[in-house]
Amino acid sequence: MNIGSSRPVAQVGNDPKLVAFSQAAHRSGLMPGWEFQGGVSDAPVPAEQAYRWSWAEVLRPMMVKAYDVVDPVKAERRNLIMANPGLGRAATTQTLIAAIQGVLPGEIAPAHRHTAGALRFMIEGRGAATVVDGEPCYMEPASLILTPQWCWHDHANETDQPVIWLDVLDVPFIMGINQWFWEPFPHEIQPRSRPRGENLTLFGAGIVRPAGPRVHDGPSPLLVYPWDRAETALTELADLDTRDGGVTVEYNNPVTGGPVLPTIACFAHRLRPGGLTRARRTNSSAILHVVRGRGRTIVGDQKLEWETGDCLAIPHWTWVQHENRSATEPAFLFSATDTPILEAFGIYREELARAGA
Ligand SMILES: [Fe+2]
Repeated sequence: MNIGSSRPVAQVGNDPKLVAFSQAAHRSGLMPGWEFQGGVSDAPVPAEQAYRWSWAEVLRPMMVKAYDVVDPVKAERRNLIMANPGLGRAATTQTLIAAIQGVLPGEIAPAHRHTAGALRFMIEGRGAATVVDGEPCYMEPASLILTPQWCWHDHANETDQPVIWLDVLDVPFIMGINQWFWEPFPHEIQPRSRPRGENLTLFGAGIVRPAGPRVHDGPSPLLVYPWDRAETALTELADLDTRDGGVTVEYNNPVTGGPVLPTIACFAHRLRPGGLTRARRTNSSAILHVVRGRGRTIVGDQKLEWETGDCLAIPHWTWVQHENRSATEPAFLFSATDTPILEAFGIYREELARAGA
């Protein structure tokens, strides 16, 4: 089907000569292009489904059970992938994986590196460290921590409480182009060779940075994005911009202004008390995490109710609205999308419904 045109497209019929030709072509290692119907569909049809994983009923209790049954050293990671029922593989959307990961006091999830880019968003506990290329990045509530492509990383919990966080990785994309490389750290422990907090001191000030050469290539030099700064920015923006039911900020690479990873963009959202956002659709898929609050997300013809800690898969090219069900308190969401992949190839699309629609 080709919306907007009455011209018949790829309707070649079943003429016996055509069928015989097609069979001969297949025997010759050829496929007639007119048999490839995907080439004339007018828009993508997402295979991934809109889906919610409840923190209170599923994610947290299952992770607590996993504490007893799996050792992160033997398993490499104690993580539970949010497997999208529409995909039937280790994927939450067509390009992204979301998982929860837990580390108990005294444990270290071993150091390794891989071509997949990854980020962590803290959900429960505080003070454990993700060590990235030798720098301990301490995991405070709702902080975002990057482990960019091919950086060494381990996760160590030297506190007296378990920690649980959300992982988001571009694994399905990397697997889709068959570019998975992985390497364990050559020694048992990754040396802590850089001072704690170095990246935030150097690159986290926002309006200034140490004078010197400008770096434009490679991953974000900022690895830790504290939540309090994002929430302050959202609260101030909400006072300034009242056009919609909520406001959004993007976490950025401070030396380029671009996304935090070459393949994943991250956003923080604040929904006004009782607020409903304008309907929007993009051809990027998203992982959504509820930092604080309760509400619902309308995805196509589905309504997904959510509360603090829940995670959602948002399919691509589907109309989406977020609604805060509290009349008195704002709600805060975190999202990770594959937008940079689409922008890199010049195929990103976004549509916003008319005001009031
Ligand atoms: Fe990893």
